[in-house]
Amino acid sequence: MMSAKVLDAMNAQINAEIYSAYVYLAMSAHFESANLPGFAKWMRLQYAEETAHALKFFDFIHERGGAVTLKAVDAPPPAPATPLAVFEKTYAHEQKVTGMIHDLYKLAVAEADYPAQVFLQWFINEQVEEEKNASDAVARLRMIGDFAPALLMMDEEMGERGGED
Ligand code: FEO
Repeated sequence: MMSAKVLDAMNAQINAEIYSAYVYLAMSAHFESANLPGFAKWMRLQYAEETAHALKFFDFIHERGGAVTLKAVDAPPPAPATPLAVFEKTYAHEQKVTGMIHDLYKLAVAEADYPAQVFLQWFINEQVEEEKNASDAVARLRMIGDFAPALLMMDEEMGERGGED
């Protein structure tokens, strides 16, 4: 059984992950409208990944005998105008999520919740990858600048992303 503090924080994280999913779904819609189907697909897979993250917390809470409490999800902000600005925002968002996961881990340590610490290690590793994916895209988009042919090539490449969890 988890302490009330860990349970509340994990329920809050379900909301944060669903919000992340919503942010990326909005970005996917933005890229669909901008005729960049590869970026749109990448963001749609990111949406699915965030939903899977929420479900990992959902399942873990139940495994520990806790109760899941779902709260209202905020509307996502409008996507920024350029692909570079979208990925800069994605990178900043993932850095924020990393901070949340680290805070959760600190709480699990303070509460001597060893199963939660082991569970959260997956997310600590996942955030390293999430930040790298976003910062790599930012770096490449900065190189591309306003050169449309290179942007279209990157769009094709982004569309080759497969599903993960
Ligand atoms: Fe659920 Fe993108 O971190």
